[in-house]
Amino acid sequence: MKETYEFADTTRWASTVLMPSFSADWPLLPVERAEGAYLYTTDGKRYLDFTSGIAVTNVGHGHPKVLAAAREQMGKFSHSAVGITLHEPLLQLTQTLSGVMPSGMDMFCFGNSGAEAVEGALKLARYVTGRPGIIAFEGGFHGRTYGAASVTSVKSKYRDHYEPFVPGVYFAPYAYPYRCPWGDDDRSTVAWSVAGIETIFDRLIPPTQVAAMLVEPVQGEGGYVVPPAGFLHALRRICDEHNILLILDEVQTGFGRTGEMFAAQVFDVRPDIMAIAKGIANGFPLSATVASRKLMSRWLPGAHGTTYGGNPIACAAALATLEVIREENLLENCRIMGMKLLQGMQQFKEQYDFIGDVRGLGLMLAMEMVVPGGKSPNPEAATAILNNCLQGGLIGYMAGLHGQVVRLIPPLNISEEQIGEALRILAMSLAEYKRVIAG
Ligand SMILES: Cc1ncc(COP(=O)(O)O)c(C=O)c1O
Repeated sequence: MKETYEFADTTRWASTVLMPSFSADWPLLPVERAEGAYLYTTDGKRYLDFTSGIAVTNVGHGHPKVLAAAREQMGKFSHSAVGITLHEPLLQLTQTLSGVMPSGMDMFCFGNSGAEAVEGALKLARYVTGRPGIIAFEGGFHGRTYGAASVTSVKSKYRDHYEPFVPGVYFAPYAYPYRCPWGDDDRSTVAWSVAGIETIFDRLIPPTQVAAMLVEPVQGEGGYVVPPAGFLHALRRICDEHNILLILDEVQTGFGRTGEMFAAQVFDVRPDIMAIAKGIANGFPLSATVASRKLMSRWLPGAHGTTYGGNPIACAAALATLEVIREENLLENCRIMGMKLLQGMQQFKEQYDFIGDVRGLGLMLAMEMVVPGGKSPNPEAATAILNNCLQGGLIGYMAGLHGQVVRLIPPLNISEEQIGEALRILAMSLAEYKRVIAG
């Protein structure tokens, strides 16, 4: 007899019909509905969602303004391929986006996902420079399609069995203060990374053959690693010196997550190309490769394209999302609430020796778990604490090379009460973990 689908038993059902290659590191909660910062499951439970669908629902689940804009557009038409036709939501979006992007980022190639935006950035860089080389950074994550996976180095399991990758990619060290072998001060971490780039130029590929450097201004999947501003400034200097394009992957850091619209604005660094996605339309699939008109105009007709990119419903939702961020002053709320959450997390670090580092920007915050007495990564602690949080009604997510980092990604309109609620659950979860390991 054919089995019937039971939503209540999601994990078992999912294991029979969904590809196991999806990371199985999290219980598949059967979500029935979501509102603001909360998810509601079919068994009647409520969870405080500090994942935001991995930095996507930045203005909260089901924001009425975003939904209304999408519904209105759906009543008009839902698709007409860009390249054959054009539509108002897309044209308006280019205008609104130009007003909030880092200066000079004023031409757009829309796509559907973060990986697609990265693919576009890599193709554009090679196309306009005529050079083959790409320098990416250790611990980086840029997506699952072939080009994006070729520049990803956060975990070997994301690459295993997929060789050969797109050639011409070289990995330099990222400025990771907590784990830099030369020391955790700004000067040492930047010098460590710059030395790695110079070694690549000396031994592997001369800078004249490098099209672009691709970097996350704050590493996401890598563990919410915040580099010193000097790191990005050093990359800019090296790129300028050798006519290399600087690509910022702001797929996770974009749309208010770091307390400014983009991390480029936090660090005051000028990109040549950007990849943006995730928070752009609060959950509707949309992304973009962005560059200056001067640069992108050299990408000639037929060189790149898409069927769905720039979908009118997603564009209408993106316009509304940008309006909400502005009207509700969410960048400021992000900075204030981020500081409150960070301070709470720093207090936990004082209390518990298995928390090695607490860091983040805006509302992308993390705790790195270590084996007490040293810096050895402690993924077991991260998993146990996240599970305790889940029991208490708070959903966080893991990150880091070894899964040793607990990351918290609440919506930008999170309230002080909700931050308090999250800190209370975290406090109980950490205490429970301490109790269990103490035996
Ligand atoms: C920095 C970064 N780039 C690219 C991607 C890929 O985005 P997507 O999963 O939408 O393809 C991600 C996804 O987590 C990301 O964090």
